[in-house]
Amino acid sequence: MFFDRERELDKLLRLVSAEPNLITFVYGPINSGKTALITEFIEKLPNDYVTFYINLRGRFINSYGDFMKVLFSVKEGSVKELLAELLKSGLAYGGIPVPEGIFRKLLEDEKEDPFLFLENYLRELVERGKRPLLILDELQVIGDLELDGPLIYRLFNFFVRLTKETHLSHVFLVTSDSLFIEKVYNEAMLHGRAEYFLVDDFDRRTALEFLWKLGLNASEAELVWNYFGGKPVYLAEAPKHRDELKEWCERTLRLRVQSINALIGGRKGLVNLLREFVDKDSIPFDGRVSKVLTKLVKANVLFVDPLNGVVRPQGRLELLAIRRLLG
Ligand SMILES: Nc1ncnc2c1ncn2[C@@H]1O[C@H](COP(=O)(O)OP(=O)(O)O)[C@@H](O)[C@H]1O
Ligand SMILES: [Mg+2]
Repeated sequence: MFFDRERELDKLLRLVSAEPNLITFVYGPINSGKTALITEFIEKLPNDYVTFYINLRGRFINSYGDFMKVLFSVKEGSVKELLAELLKSGLAYGGIPVPEGIFRKLLEDEKEDPFLFLENYLRELVERGKRPLLILDELQVIGDLELDGPLIYRLFNFFVRLTKETHLSHVFLVTSDSLFIEKVYNEAMLHGRAEYFLVDDFDRRTALEFLWKLGLNASEAELVWNYFGGKPVYLAEAPKHRDELKEWCERTLRLRVQSINALIGGRKGLVNLLREFVDKDSIPFDGRVSKVLTKLVKANVLFVDPLNGVVRPQGRLELLAIRRLLG
């Protein structure tokens, strides 16, 4: 069951109803519901949109060719037929549909520029009255693999071209790894070319309403909130553990304490940074990204919110685990 996100859905709809101008980074802590929100959003889009949704999670990307295989999806039929199909369905999951012959050419012929091809492809759709929307989920997969800088650079140049320069397509880049965003934001010089859209855990009122809707009573809902805050993934799980709710909460917290303990292994730098959260919920983010911070972010213990300028635990569970470990 998809719950709420009314405000976010409204905002996203308003965003794409205007002419494409900026790249949109959809970011937020792990399991906050970014993918769920985007999926719901795609369903709500009026039918003059054509959405390309590509999720890089679990995809193996180690070269330019690998990336092209993720970006495009080989389909039966001519370009004309594939475009006609898109005009009808308004949606392509998992890659931009192209005929095999064209894909080969794009990959093998050095004179071919896949980004130029894509630009023309999107222009075709625009000329037929459609509004393209390109969404890449889990984009940090590219960054994690430290692919040659130029790909990232070219890719973001292309996104800037699609938005700010030609206004052909909206571009949403979805990720939990906000340090990756920070990096490309600075290195690909995206100042004035990109904006941030935060999808956070539910606030208290929304979380409690969600739990009531799932059948929990007021005191059960309160208990779940106290352990997990508004992290949707845990709220959705809670009803399954109604017969032993307190034990489930405790067990989940204990496991988190153990995993964080194993991660830090008593190392001073990590301990010192985490100790900040013993008496604070968040600390200011000054733009400096230390090794220690990177490690804790990559391990999904801490979350950097560049827009609001804070570092905080990924969720309430992590906050409690840190406090139990170091408090
Ligand atoms: N709005 C929502 N309503 C109900 N359940 C949700 C909602 N958002 C997220 N969830 C639950 O939380 C899980 C994790 O959400 P997901 O979108 O995968 O997080 P993210 O992409 O931010 O890591 C989902 O599989 C779903 O069970
Ligand atoms: Mg996701």
